[in-house]
Amino acid sequence: MKTVDLLIKGGAVVSPSATIEADIAIDGERVVGIAAGEMSPPARETVDASGLHVLPGAVDSHVHFREPGYDYKENWQTGTAAAACGGTTTVFEMPNTHPPTGTLEALRDKQARAKRQAHVDYGIYGLLDENNIDVLEDLTRAGVSGFKCFMGNTFGDLPAPSDGAMLEGFEILARLGMRCTVHAENASIMARREAKMREAGRNDAPAHLAARPEICAVEAVGRATAFAEWTGARLHIAHKSSADGLDLVRRAKSRGVDVTVETCPQYLIFTVDDMDALGGQLRVNPPIREKGHGEALWAALHDGTIDMIATDHAPHLPEEKASNSIWECECGFPGVETQMPIMLTQVAEGRLTLNQYVQWSAAAPARAWGCYPRKGLIAPGSDADIAIVDLAAEGRISREALHSRSHMTPWHGFETRGRVVHTLVRGRIVVRDGVLADAAGWGRPVVQDMPEPAPRNVDKTTAAITAYRPD
Ligand code: DOR
Ligand code: ZN
Repeated sequence: MKTVDLLIKGGAVVSPSATIEADIAIDGERVVGIAAGEMSPPARETVDASGLHVLPGAVDSHVHFREPGYDYKENWQTGTAAAACGGTTTVFEMPNTHPPTGTLEALRDKQARAKRQAHVDYGIYGLLDENNIDVLEDLTRAGVSGFKCFMGNTFGDLPAPSDGAMLEGFEILARLGMRCTVHAENASIMARREAKMREAGRNDAPAHLAARPEICAVEAVGRATAFAEWTGARLHIAHKSSADGLDLVRRAKSRGVDVTVETCPQYLIFTVDDMDALGGQLRVNPPIREKGHGEALWAALHDGTIDMIATDHAPHLPEEKASNSIWECECGFPGVETQMPIMLTQVAEGRLTLNQYVQWSAAAPARAWGCYPRKGLIAPGSDADIAIVDLAAEGRISREALHSRSHMTPWHGFETRGRVVHTLVRGRIVVRDGVLADAAGWGRPVVQDMPEPAPRNVDKTTAAITAYRPD
């Protein structure tokens, strides 16, 4: 038998459909075999995984690494180090940096920064906004993994595109087969409410929620799914936070719209009541809502309405989150390093099975972004992107231990059951026994193979009507 580079020996290997005791043979960057002990090939190095579980590394469709422009909050080195330590082996990074990733120049700059620093593999989102519709195709050719459209305002203050620009953007992305992620909140309702509340002197923590009621999400999900159905553009709904609007997603899916949906641990577990203790630390867009929404999101994961878990890793400095006025606290907090221990704790509590966890954290996002089964699954031929976890390890999340530059987390003190022991990215051990190896620069852009484009109403697109000449 040929000697392979690495053997992960004696662990329980987890896929969406099964958990089996097996060794994993890795040669170069790929898994080359999965076999019971006596069938395993000799290896130059062995990782003992007895008593441990071997999962596909998480694929996080939603992180903000802040570089360029806000490097003091995070950069590609610290953000991807945090990902690796959290068992996340692929990230998709958002365009609300400064400058935003809406031009070829900004994209090339970000690609160079990521290439130098990344510990894990990555995709880079391009921005879809009012003024860059004409460069969406160029951005696609230059290697963006998908697009982000901020329908609602959030950090970076990127104005929402008009409906006209958004629809035209969707027409183009439909033709290209690209997926567009939307921040689905209605900008105009939120701006008006926030202004009125500020005028009225309301600056308490729950005022943030009151300014962004469920109707903002319902309207935006409705509009985005309508545009996706009309144009045939692939759609991804970021950070679903409310029960409201899930029926619109179900309806769109049943009508054949290619729409995927993520939620995040914070929406499954926190409620707005946690703001009493955490205040601005828990300020995030969309907001953490009242009790009951979390239960609906869990149910939607279980019935397939929500496809996946992402983090919306959104680091800010602790002092940027600490004002007495909620309006002066930045929105978001880091999450890429804490997702896996938090969700494994939910597995321990019986909220989901380990197989569902790998479906929602790895297989589903890899599929949505055209990376499956190269990512998101441990199988012969797949990239050896692996998180080896100890499900019995008890711990407590500590802000000091985070690798993110931000060192601020509302999860500080949260008791966990489940720890990431080792992380591999394309066969290389980037975290060993919980300690980060020096693998900066090892991360590579993901290779995507999206399904054939399926544009609709092509005779009514902006391109078609402007090209038309009556005889
Ligand atoms: O709270 C948030 N913060 N929500 C977002 O959508 C963006 C993010 C950020 O970039 O800080
Ligand atoms: Zn975000």
